[in-house]
Amino acid sequence: MAKEIKNVEYGLEKIFEGAQDFLPLLGTDYVEFYVGNAKQVAHYYKTAFGYQSLAYAGLETGLKDRASYVVKQDKIRLVFTTALNSNSEVAEHVKKHGDGVKVIALWVDDATKAWEETTKRGAKSYLKPTLEKDEHGSVVKSGIYTYGETIHLFVERKNYNGEFLPGFEKWDSDYNPSPVGLKFIDHMVGNVGWGEMNTWVNWYEEVMGFVNFLSFDDKQIHTEYSALMSKVMSNGNGRIKFPINEPAKGKKRSQIEEYLDFYEGPGVQHLAVATDNIIETVSQLRARGVEFLSTPPQAYYDEIPKRLGDHFAMLKEPIVELQKLGILIDADEEGYLLQIFTKPVEDRPTLFYEIIQRMGAKGFGAGNFKALFESIEREQEKRGTL
Ligand code: FE2
Repeated sequence: MAKEIKNVEYGLEKIFEGAQDFLPLLGTDYVEFYVGNAKQVAHYYKTAFGYQSLAYAGLETGLKDRASYVVKQDKIRLVFTTALNSNSEVAEHVKKHGDGVKVIALWVDDATKAWEETTKRGAKSYLKPTLEKDEHGSVVKSGIYTYGETIHLFVERKNYNGEFLPGFEKWDSDYNPSPVGLKFIDHMVGNVGWGEMNTWVNWYEEVMGFVNFLSFDDKQIHTEYSALMSKVMSNGNGRIKFPINEPAKGKKRSQIEEYLDFYEGPGVQHLAVATDNIIETVSQLRARGVEFLSTPPQAYYDEIPKRLGDHFAMLKEPIVELQKLGILIDADEEGYLLQIFTKPVEDRPTLFYEIIQRMGAKGFGAGNFKALFESIEREQEKRGTL
């Protein structure tokens, strides 16, 4: 596993030894979902999650086959795209996968170089470097395929000062529910098929220059019934983290297998979004109708002082508040973290959200996996898919 170092290259803090410098990534640019009804999805994300209207493209802007709504909260930009006819690739995608993530767009300084470096190392091209312009400047986009039908787009926007991208108009809405304190995307998790995790770990290492900085095997991530394996991939500056999961054999069906069955292939399992006040954020989300996995039993909260050890003295949030909201807590050498998981946000049991507040901890809540998966299994049981 990669050792952390401190070093500055490309103007970025390079924190992982062994990470390659051929693909400097500045951050997540946006995440695009292909959905059945983008107008309603955008309304849900505004109402339930506090996103703000940002940009729109559709028939009114000259598009013939699709419409896209862009929403924003602090540094997070989400795009919801729907098909306007049955011939569209968007319609095909939704028919097969249901609503889900199509594009993880990464912000780069040089989208041409990003495409050249990754395709040279074996990435399958989705989009050759393409210049798009409007009165606000120009953007270069390029793209490659990753797992399943998911895409990484590289977005170079240093010569652009419009709302979002060329082709989009500003979306002014009279309906603007307040934000809930979501700040940025902490990590995005991909589910891949049986025995495919290491293939994709190698792909991220070789094609994207990422490093594997944490691994969990099925002995660590299991309950009485089901199991999974996970490896966390990070780019050099640590801003982009992609854990990759694969199912593992258990007595019953793994939640990863359930995802693969319903998504009909590999895809994005969850987006973890950061807040710096999880109690306030989750209170708001609950009040707005966001559904979370069930709260762990009393024993879980009774054990918090023991589990946090030395970090318990640092804990600012009252345990009774955390328990009331069903928030989970875990610690590593460097601090603690608070996290909670939503139920899937569409009818197929596929994509869900994690809300996370890091108080020094760099992990992913390994200490919560068991409590969390037992909670997921209770939902699988209700769906008859365990
Ligand atoms: Fe996560």
